[in-house]
Amino acid sequence: MNSKPILFSAVQPSGDLTLGNYIGSMRHWSKFQNIYDCIYCIADLHALTTLNKNFSLKKSVLDTLALYLACGVDPNKSIIFIQSHVYQHTQLNWVLSCFSQFGELSRMTQFKNKKKIRNNCIENINVGLFNYPILMSSDILLYETNLVPVGQDQKQHLELTRNIAHRFNFLYGDIFTLPEPLIDISGSKVMSLLEPKKKMSKSDMNKNNVIFLLEDISSIFFKIKNAITDSQTPPKIYYDKKRKLGISNLLEILSAITNKEINILEKELNGVMYSEFKNIIFDNISQFLRRLQKSYLNYRKDESYLKKVAQDGAIKARLKSEKLLKRVYSIMDIDLFFK
Ligand code: TRP
Repeated sequence: MNSKPILFSAVQPSGDLTLGNYIGSMRHWSKFQNIYDCIYCIADLHALTTLNKNFSLKKSVLDTLALYLACGVDPNKSIIFIQSHVYQHTQLNWVLSCFSQFGELSRMTQFKNKKKIRNNCIENINVGLFNYPILMSSDILLYETNLVPVGQDQKQHLELTRNIAHRFNFLYGDIFTLPEPLIDISGSKVMSLLEPKKKMSKSDMNKNNVIFLLEDISSIFFKIKNAITDSQTPPKIYYDKKRKLGISNLLEILSAITNKEINILEKELNGVMYSEFKNIIFDNISQFLRRLQKSYLNYRKDESYLKKVAQDGAIKARLKSEKLLKRVYSIMDIDLFFK
């Protein structure tokens, strides 16, 4: 009897993961394993929507897998798998696309933003970008997921998943479990270092805005030194998202890395100059990243182990998702001849 709630999460292997990805999601993954039945997926099919010529998907998938392990995801406790290894995702994707509406997909903020980047010209947009949230719904619904940890940017996609599931269930009975968002209270959105109004993002053109998990420690020193603070005199370190965006962002980063509450940090940092504050942040980030990178490299160099983890994960994921897909096919009379 399975009594733990099922948690599903995924990251796209489309480039180097950032400190923002870690703080916003992967930081929690290892402790989730003790509370939930966790399923962690590497969404390589989602990455096809933004392919570019210089990008090796194979390398990126293996990098991401090694990072999952370095972050404490344990293949003996959780299912870790690569999306394209489990064909059921694309199969359910088609069925769900027939329960999704053109209008609701057009309203997805992420799609609208991507469209804007391409000059609002729909000729420049592949249909995969449009369908992206349906594939994400398939990922989630195939595993009878109860919880999906989401940042602000994916909340709308989860809402859509619930709508699609509800529409299907309304016609065919309770086939899909409706997933709930698991929203982190703090640090779910790390902002960029030079422009703290926008989210830290791996695709930022200005790399000084972003700390990458696998980057050289020496380059991080300069990025933190240059991070935007403010000109309050005398300088004062406290959390205020309206008036002290830069400082608040740095406090959130420090709090996540040290596991200390922000109000405790505020007390400890009372009277400290901004330059010293930045030294403290750098010391903590570098200590943390050194440890993470060491563990990452250990996993990354053993490709046969990584492949074994992915294979074992795919077998477990197929078993679970096949059960649900069969129920969907069967209730829709799609597999009549195989019954
Ligand atoms: N779209 C997510 C992102 O870019 C990745 C993702 C794919 C995902 N499938 C998912 C996240 C299912 C949660 C659940 O971050």
